[in-house]
Amino acid sequence: MTEPLLVVEGLTKHFWTHRPFQRRSVIHALCGASFAMTAGQTLGVVGESGSGKTTLLRTVLGLHQPTAGTVVFAGQSVDHTKRSSQRAFWRRVGVVFQDPFSSLDPRMTVSDILREPLSVAQAPGPVEPALREALDEVQLPTTALRRFPHEFSGGQRQRIAIARALMLKPELIFLDEPVSSLDVTIQAEILELLNDIQRQTQTALVFVSHDLAVVSETCDRVLVMFGGQIVEAGPTAQVVGQPRHPYTQELLASVPTPDPPAERARIRRRRQLFAGEQERTWSLPECPAPL
Ligand SMILES: Nc1ncnc2c1ncn2[C@@H]1O[C@H](COP(=O)(O)OP(=O)(O)O)[C@@H](O)[C@H]1O
Ligand SMILES: [Mg+2]
Repeated sequence: MTEPLLVVEGLTKHFWTHRPFQRRSVIHALCGASFAMTAGQTLGVVGESGSGKTTLLRTVLGLHQPTAGTVVFAGQSVDHTKRSSQRAFWRRVGVVFQDPFSSLDPRMTVSDILREPLSVAQAPGPVEPALREALDEVQLPTTALRRFPHEFSGGQRQRIAIARALMLKPELIFLDEPVSSLDVTIQAEILELLNDIQRQTQTALVFVSHDLAVVSETCDRVLVMFGGQIVEAGPTAQVVGQPRHPYTQELLASVPTPDPPAERARIRRRRQLFAGEQERTWSLPECPAPL
């Protein structure tokens, strides 16, 4: 049995709403999520918008303080209430966010953006070769170093964001909808790049997407989320080939097929489901009350 790289158990995040003149209410954004992955593995997280994918990722990273649950990385418990524990974890993982327009500081050159993780982590060794190597990995020329993010297209900016995530040679990269804001052809290029990097560096990936087709192209294993809960998990081929949970079956029905009559029936069913004309025939267990 190989050592697990990341073990998440019972991770829960509840948000309190603060609306003026209204009673505070709780949003169960993430309820008792548990999963494990080994080094070099690619794990997809799928589910429709609002299903809790981003909350899962941000809570694992400690960008949200967990309401309950534990995160263990490479055998060490990550305590997000302790700065030193959190920093030690962040030094070994990378993150790429959805929108390359807001995730890169417009006032920094590409060189500054790529240097930042090195200086925060006080990484030893020469900086210039590391910058060139990272740009090379994402197939951008070294002339990019002197330029600013606004001088690049969306796809190129996402390459810069990926290069930044690679700077500390992470063992695991979290990607939150990394291609969702890009055109379809650019999506394919970025997916191919991620697949290449994964194969060459054997970095583990947690790949979040609302699009099952994108995840099944990239990932060995998949978690399916609905209403803040993981409803199904397994090897991609199994989840896509023999989905067990009715929600996964619905998600699969939302992937277009090249057969026109089947495609028309799919669109009709989907429309009914989301218009509330067709009730969901299943429900989830209640999320426990906040602690
Ligand atoms: N900071 C926050 N404060 C309050 N509610 C939030 C916050 N972040 C997310 N939520 C709620 O949690 C639920 C899950 O959101 P999210 O994790 O962003 O879903 P996804 O990434 O799958 O689209 C949604 O109902 C969302 O409105
Ligand atoms: Mg999200």
